[in-house]
Amino acid sequence: MKTIVALPGDGIGKIVLPEAIRLLDAAGFKANYVYADIGWDFWCNEGNPLPKRTIDLIKEHKIALFGAITSKPNSDAQKELLPELQNKGLVYFSPIVALRQIFNLDICIRPCVSFKGNPLNFIRKNIDGTYDEPLINTVVFRQNTEGLYAGVEWTNPPKVVRDALETHPRMNYFKNIPSEEIAISTRIITKKASEKIIRAAFEYAKKYKYKNVTLCEKPNVLRETSGMMLKIAKDISKDYPEISLWDTNIDAQMMWLTKNPEDYGVIVAENMFGDIISDAFAGLVGGLGFACSANLGDEVAVFEPTHGSAPKYAELNPSIVNPIAMFLSAVMMLEHLGENEIANKIKNAIAKVVEEGNVRTYDMLKLKGGKSVLENGACTTEQMTNEIISKL
Ligand code: NAI
Ligand code: MG
Repeated sequence: MKTIVALPGDGIGKIVLPEAIRLLDAAGFKANYVYADIGWDFWCNEGNPLPKRTIDLIKEHKIALFGAITSKPNSDAQKELLPELQNKGLVYFSPIVALRQIFNLDICIRPCVSFKGNPLNFIRKNIDGTYDEPLINTVVFRQNTEGLYAGVEWTNPPKVVRDALETHPRMNYFKNIPSEEIAISTRIITKKASEKIIRAAFEYAKKYKYKNVTLCEKPNVLRETSGMMLKIAKDISKDYPEISLWDTNIDAQMMWLTKNPEDYGVIVAENMFGDIISDAFAGLVGGLGFACSANLGDEVAVFEPTHGSAPKYAELNPSIVNPIAMFLSAVMMLEHLGENEIANKIKNAIAKVVEEGNVRTYDMLKLKGGKSVLENGACTTEQMTNEIISKL
């Protein structure tokens, strides 16, 4: 039997993750779950939001389901440490970013797929006053470890860095500005990681019969990094004659996002552009209550909703948050494990509940969150899970 490392984390992560396990059990997925420690409590009490025992468990079992964590600015992080841990030079870091680095989870997959009947679906007005509700089926492949989010950055860069940069003619523009007044974030990408994410995108398109793969970058301006990705995409696309390679600029793609989103199949991009474009597409299919993701490395895979710990709602009892993003992340885990039958069973049950519309969380009713949503027709988190289970 498969063992899954369950990482609830903080806030609503502690609510939606156990609900996902309840649904997986009900759907007939046989697994052991080992709960592991991650998040704010472990920072406050141990000075480490990602204890080594958790890393060891993930190393051993290779598959993790993750809820969400809370991150706070460093000054708050220091204040909330146990008194005996303060002033020891401990520095808070995001445990999910650390997991991606430790296990080289370099491929992030974020499907953005509309459910029929979801009141949050994007609609488009036609010239004759009628409306279209195009069903979107886009899957974003985001390079998860490099690029602008790799963390190679400085405020007041050291002299060696400044000197190295001065060898570039374009640094002339900054020449009279003192280093103390300069901040630098680099965008480093490698051929190897770019080839890996682009090939993964094409393989996925082939497996699930998407007709196009779009590289969403900015090669006309970011000539070196985006330019390298475009060249690699063109080379790799030759191995997939049945799939068209499109390329769009991130800015234009955002502007045209609502024009024809239903035309895009698989989209592939660097870390930050992938972050942006996947949030944009997620907004067209229901937003944070529906946005799921997978972080894949060569050995380890971590599945998580893209929302955070939503502290505003963490203490509400009963809970009102939408567990579907977490459930869809669990579905991605099942597909990764080859459990397609159970995955489809859960997906179909979710689709049925959304389409029938009898049971909806507050976000699906476009209500402002709070206790009162339950009097205004919204269901609780638990009721949503129960309804989905009843449709399995
Ligand atoms: P958030 O995603 O936690 O919440 C933003 C808002 O989205 C919430 O106030 C709520 O209105 C809505 N929302 C989120 N999840 C929902 C759900 N399942 N159902 C219904 N509504 C939902 O982002 P926020 O408020 O910016 O960050 C809160 C904390 O979470 C911070 O400490 C942040 O650092 C952390 N965070 C963690 C992430 C992760 O664990 N991967 C990702 C994003 C934020
Ligand atoms: Mg984001």
